[in-house]
Order: sequence, then C-alpha cells, then structure tokens
Amino acid sequence: MSELKVVAVDGPAGAGKSTISKLVAGRLGYTYIDTGAMYRAVALKVLESKLPLEDEEIMIAARDVDIDLRNEDGVNKTYLDGRDVSTEIRTLEVSRSVSKVAAVGFVRERLTELQRSMAKRGGVIMDGRDIGTVVLPDADVKIFLTASVAERARRRYDELKAKGLDVELGSIERDIAARDKLDSEREIAPLKQADDAILIDSTSMTIEEVADKMIELINRG
Ligand code: DC
Repeated sequence: MSELKVVAVDGPAGAGKSTISKLVAGRLGYTYIDTGAMYRAVALKVLESKLPLEDEEIMIAARDVDIDLRNEDGVNKTYLDGRDVSTEIRTLEVSRSVSKVAAVGFVRERLTELQRSMAKRGGVIMDGRDIGTVVLPDADVKIFLTASVAERARRRYDELKAKGLDVELGSIERDIAARDKLDSEREIAPLKQADDAILIDSTSMTIEEVADKMIELINRG
C-alpha cells in the first residue's frame, strides 16, 4: 500500500471542493474533513443563541463549542454539542452568517487547533479556505480548486433545487460573490492560493475529470 498522505484542498465556495474531496477520499480510503462544516456549526450555535452577530457574542459561543465530524455508514455527519446538525448547517441563513463568524480570530484559532489534531494520523483530505496556507502548511499535496462565479452559482442552485428548496439563481450568485469577497479580504487567514498549491479550474471539467486529476497529483506528490 502506498504511503498515507495529507492533502489540503482550498478554494472559493461552490468550486466542488467537498464533492470531489469526498469522492477522492472514498477511492483512496482516506478520511475526509470538511472544515467549512465546522465554521458553519459555530455560526449555527450563534444564530440559535439569538444573540447579536457581533465578535463578542461569537467568541462566547465558540468558547465551549464541541464539534465532531463523524462518518456514519459512509455518510459524513456534523455534530454540534452532541447533536446532529448536518442539515441545519446548510441553510441560507447559516451560509449568510458564516463568513462573519469565520473572520473572528478566536474562532479560527480554536478550529485550526482541532483541524491540525484531526490531520495528525495522515490519510486525510481536508478542504477549506486556509488549509494549505495556515492549517497544514506542510501538507504533502496542496490543491487550489476554483471555477467561475456563474458556474459555481449554477452548481449551488442545482444542489439546493434538488433538495426541494425554493431558490433563485441571481440571489445565489450575489451571495457567492459577497462571500468570496469577505473570505478573500478578511484580515486573518484569507482565502488565497498557497505558493506551492496546484491550481485546478473546474469550470468546464466534469466531477470525474477533477477527481482523476486530483488522484494523479496525490499519487505523484
Ligand atoms: O466551504 P463552506 O461554504 O461550507 O464554508 C463555509 C464558510 O466557512 C465560508 O464562508 C468560509 C468559511 N471557512 C473558512 O473561513 N475557513 C475554512 N477553512 C473553511 C471555511
């Protein structure tokens, strides 16, 4: 068996990071770690507390947060304080609040620490925004996966529609553009391609093509 690698996948919202990372992890027998789900869980905790979405309140919610990512019969689940919140963290409300939560230094420190300990055993594919730059700068393979805003919005739209949600393409496109801006312009750990990351633009690639490319890079890396 080949050596177990640590793979960092970064890129903007809707580039296909989680779909591809999950698929590749399954094929290689690796553990998939969705760091966005962790930030979403903290955002959900703040929203449920009904406290204002301000730094102080976000810090209070994050101080004693318990987040666990589990794989149950091949399905990735996110637990917040012992409760399965895998569905709740995908709502538009959470998506709209999460960038604010993810910009708070205290939250990032807590989650970064947790993510590093999750990657220790190797054989992991971790996706997010700052994995190759901050969380795992020594990762064996770094990939920066992107796609055009229009294509990413269309994918999110199809995904939400398939779940039966009543959504509008224009509004999703605006949300994605706004989130890109917040994620890449924030002061702490902004979204950016690591110097040693390999860029994959998935705009006109199929899921299979991106997965094959990623596996080739992992085997080579
Ligand atoms: O990948 P996603 O859309 O589920 O991520 C949700 C939010 O969390 C996104 O707006 C950016 C933030 N995030 C982050 O700041 N750092 C990470 N490593 C992962 C996600």
